[in-house]
Amino acid sequence: MKKQLLALVAALMVGAGAQAADIKVVVNADQPGPVIHRNIYGQFAEHLGTGIYEGMWVGPESKIPNVRGWRKDVVAALKDLHVPLVRWPGGCFADEYHWREGIGPRAQRPVKVNTTWGGVAENNAVGTHEFFDLAEQLGAETYVNGNLGTGSPQEMAEWLEYMTADGNSTLAQLRRKNGHAKPFRVHYFAVGNESWGCGGNMRPEYYVDLYRQAATFLKTPQNNRPVFIASGGHDARTDWTETLAKGLKGVPFDAISHHGYTLPTGKWETKGAAVGFGEDQWISTLAHTQTIDAWVRKNTAVLDQHDPKKRVGFYFDEWGSWYDPEPGSNPGFLVQRNTLRDALLAALHFHVFHANAERVKMTNVAQMVNVLQAMILTSKDKLALTPTYHAFKLYVPFQDATSLPASIENNPVYLVGKTEMPSLSVTAGRAKDGKLYVGLVNANATQAAELALQVGANAAKAVKGQLLTAGAMDAQNELGKPAQVVPVPFEAQAVGGKLTLKLPAKSIVVVAVEG
Ligand code: AHR
Repeated sequence: MKKQLLALVAALMVGAGAQAADIKVVVNADQPGPVIHRNIYGQFAEHLGTGIYEGMWVGPESKIPNVRGWRKDVVAALKDLHVPLVRWPGGCFADEYHWREGIGPRAQRPVKVNTTWGGVAENNAVGTHEFFDLAEQLGAETYVNGNLGTGSPQEMAEWLEYMTADGNSTLAQLRRKNGHAKPFRVHYFAVGNESWGCGGNMRPEYYVDLYRQAATFLKTPQNNRPVFIASGGHDARTDWTETLAKGLKGVPFDAISHHGYTLPTGKWETKGAAVGFGEDQWISTLAHTQTIDAWVRKNTAVLDQHDPKKRVGFYFDEWGSWYDPEPGSNPGFLVQRNTLRDALLAALHFHVFHANAERVKMTNVAQMVNVLQAMILTSKDKLALTPTYHAFKLYVPFQDATSLPASIENNPVYLVGKTEMPSLSVTAGRAKDGKLYVGLVNANATQAAELALQVGANAAKAVKGQLLTAGAMDAQNELGKPAQVVPVPFEAQAVGGKLTLKLPAKSIVVVAVEG
């Protein structure tokens, strides 16, 4: 009751305007933190539903304009996001993928059943060469996920040799014969995926032994050594992090992969609807993202005990919203709508990842196109940029920025039923262009917020950037219809030595600070 009263008072204060400036955001520009690695903005593309086939890959013969099979419109839109890294081929699919089936003339590649995702035919049209071509077209780094579940150390070792060998080995020659003279650059390589679940239902101790065995044989030329990633845990769990950190000394091991999705209800049986939800599920979804901060901190604290020099990375390489499947769709295709709520969810994740940038040097949203919290939706030759796409675009200046501490004084409590969270969230960084950027989220679905922005002890002179909001919590950008969620210019100037920003309800603002 006390909390409800506080929230009401806070809301009235903002509404009244007079006390609104009590909310103060202070950025400490002279206390630089770690660099926000651009790969925090990484993406995940799996052989799942129409995520790759149709969504991105249409084949060179398609009437849909493409470059060597990859859709031109999709690649152009993704390039605008400066996608820094792509993870492929899964996910769960990775532990059933055999790389030899995806090389050579496409017409001769075997057709398999994608038993994990929808039971549909997988014709292996997208394989190693096609994946690296996509990465090259995007200018992105590559993250290849190896098969531990149904594969072997030999199969992974030979895949790495095929991709990276520069000599005259039979596998290097085969790669040349298949059209790629030079080795591919493999930036990251993971041994299995979700080995606690779809990757083999293992115990962490058993996985440690398998990883040690496999990693012993994963050799590449020194100038093409990937970052080696071990498959870790999920959500709040720390047992995998602990067992891996203790057990993987003495073999190539550079990072742990951790996964965590957001379900409005928190229950896998009934996750919650992607559209048409109430404010209760708006707040439960966004409040969940703040839980992710605690998950990351718990896990990195465990890592700190075993790796005080912070050599090992903690990669959150699958995250995003996961709703009940779109009615009428194949439930194995993980099709869901994408709304303003997803944009705020993405921005709040960015803030969590920036705050933990010391260890979190890579994350991947799940997934790129048509699957889960996608950037892009396609149908035949149509394409829509989702609200999540726009959130990613707003935060591009944060890629490789130096993080700066930022705090909020008098952050109003946002309360719906029994769920509460701070209304506002902030992140700040000095970007590569030298400018100071501030990202702000107002999670409150009904109350606007006014805040004073200071850099150190002084008010900023002016800010200029963009605002993302919409009329409805579940506003979306549907295929073939006018987009409802698009960024608009946002700016403010200091008056009388005070810079006040007015954030509409349910909004994201990213600005560059002047003066
Ligand atoms: O992104 C969809 C699936 O979620 C991935 O294949 C798997 O790793 C996770 O459970």
